Amino acid sequence: TPKKPLAGRHVLVTSGPTHEAIDPVRYLANRSSGRQGHAVAAAAAEAGARVTLVSGPVAIPDPAGVTVVRVESAREMLAAVEAALPADLAIFAAAVGDWRPAETRAGKIKKDGSTPPPLQLVENPDILATIAGRSEGRPPLVVGFAAETDDVIANAQRKIARKGCDLIVANDVSAEGGVMGGLENTVHLVARDGGVETWPRLGKEEVGRRLVARFAERLAAPLTA
Ligand code: C5P
Repeated sequence: TPKKPLAGRHVLVTSGPTHEAIDPVRYLANRSSGRQGHAVAAAAAEAGARVTLVSGPVAIPDPAGVTVVRVESAREMLAAVEAALPADLAIFAAAVGDWRPAETRAGKIKKDGSTPPPLQLVENPDILATIAGRSEGRPPLVVGFAAETDDVIANAQRKIARKGCDLIVANDVSAEGGVMGGLENTVHLVARDGGVETWPRLGKEEVGRRLVARFAERLAAPLTA
């Protein structure tokens, strides 16, 4: 195996949560730490790729040798991803908020009413499905993530079909707990062509390196099916 299997490749990675503003001081978010996405970006850079990491707000350091584009909301993340294309490999590890407030108030919502303010939500764009569904400029290898608690493999296969991606990295979040925000991960790598790999619980850095090795193999020898 070559030491720099991704030399000459551009790899795009999304990571972290999104923040969806309610007003200037409040937002909707989730518990993603960005650790797994950042570890994949670091591993891709170690493998010789030029890496663009589009990251939501996180409290962990930027990986070495990676161009980091910081965003807050899902819509900003989609715009940054589109601006970063073309890419040979796109890995969507971010925990994108499914919804955002229908309106962001320009001023802080006051607590002076007798009833709490209603919070109307609208759906965010699906960044993975948008990029995987492109007829022009689709990256040759598109990878999604999935957090599942049961029927992990079957749900991952359905997600591949729904999103139009090539691979899904399915996290078993039911396992021993503490995956989201934790340092370790139990993953299954599920391919559109039916291949399934299950790895033991590993550090997120090691998961990142193993994933990048698999992606590099797929890029080097794309399947015709
Ligand atoms: O549908 P679900 O949220 O389970 O899909 C997870 C996958 O889709 C992840 O790869 C995530 O980064 C991506 N996703 C996205 N944009 C969204 C929702 C999910 O890119 N709005």
